[in-house]
Amino acid sequence: MTPTTSPVRVRATDATGQPERTPQLEALYRGFEQQLLVPLWTAIGELMPAHPVSQARPHRWRWKDLLPMAEQAGQLVPVGRGGERRAIALANPGLGGQPFATPTLWAAIQYLNPQEYAPIHRHTQNAFRFVVEGEGVWTVVNGDPVAMRRGDFLPQAGWHWHGHHNRSDRAMAWIDGLDIPFQHYTDATFFEFGADEVDTREAPQRSRSERLWAHPGLRPLTHLQPTPATPLLAYRWEHTDRALAEQLALEAEGYSATVEPGHAAVRYTNPTTGADILPTLRTEFHRLAPDTATAARSEVGSSVFQVFDGTGEVTVGDSRWSVERGDLFVVPSWQPLAFATEHGLDLFRFTDAPIFERLHLHRSHQSPQERAEA
Ligand SMILES: [Fe+2]
Repeated sequence: MTPTTSPVRVRATDATGQPERTPQLEALYRGFEQQLLVPLWTAIGELMPAHPVSQARPHRWRWKDLLPMAEQAGQLVPVGRGGERRAIALANPGLGGQPFATPTLWAAIQYLNPQEYAPIHRHTQNAFRFVVEGEGVWTVVNGDPVAMRRGDFLPQAGWHWHGHHNRSDRAMAWIDGLDIPFQHYTDATFFEFGADEVDTREAPQRSRSERLWAHPGLRPLTHLQPTPATPLLAYRWEHTDRALAEQLALEAEGYSATVEPGHAAVRYTNPTTGADILPTLRTEFHRLAPDTATAARSEVGSSVFQVFDGTGEVTVGDSRWSVERGDLFVVPSWQPLAFATEHGLDLFRFTDAPIFERLHLHRSHQSPQERAEA
């Protein structure tokens, strides 16, 4: 192998702890390059930093920029076999133009025109949909049609057949979250085509999964075995909204219910285990009462947020943005995150935390002194 075909580059420097730069050392380094070898003493700073240093950067995408482009794609790009979905992914500016919001998470806006449908397929990637506005689309998961409406969270575990159909006369946009980058880097991906058309155009108000599972604290005796992903295919806004409102009401009555003053939060869970809804993805909803500022918090792993309602200021590391309904932003690993809101802020969040918790790599740090400025 000649040096020009090797991707390895080993640099001799005068930095502390590095060997004296001699012709013999340079020759040794060229030999390393030819043999595809990298000495640890030149790479340890990048490989073993004192704390996570993500290639991903904090970034915000504005809904008012995304939605018109999705609408334009709706005019120009058909949905069908091959392309599969009219989904437009967030590409983190630190990840080389790949369609990855963070090193592990995919986030996209998906758009379906009136009376359109998206064909059936399945993949090992775990997925969900979250609806910030609109209604009229049913996602069909393993033959079960599930209505999608504003505020609904719709998980769909890996290797489940799925397609979508829009029964209405209005287009609809929503966000998709998946673990595509994680499965891409780890070479774990499988994909299979299903029928070219969705297998049912039924449009029930409640899916079969909800009729079986959406009864708080009640478990069907026919389904007592734990499953790795949630069997409940829709978590409806009315329940999320009520849970958050009650936390803040309980706090106002003097009871312990919020994660910090003015900060209500719930996690979507698998009713068979009480754990996260999907093996690789955690999803939560956070509500900040008016005039709330949160503590700065750092966490191993990355997050994507979407503003569901309200306005506020978000600080991620050295970045600070004003956000409003529909805006999406990413929080890379270990970057401190804090919020401040004058009028109240509702936030949907998804993260890769289950991966890190299962591998005993999860850490978090919260500074009670540091609060975001309102
Ligand atoms: Fe899919």
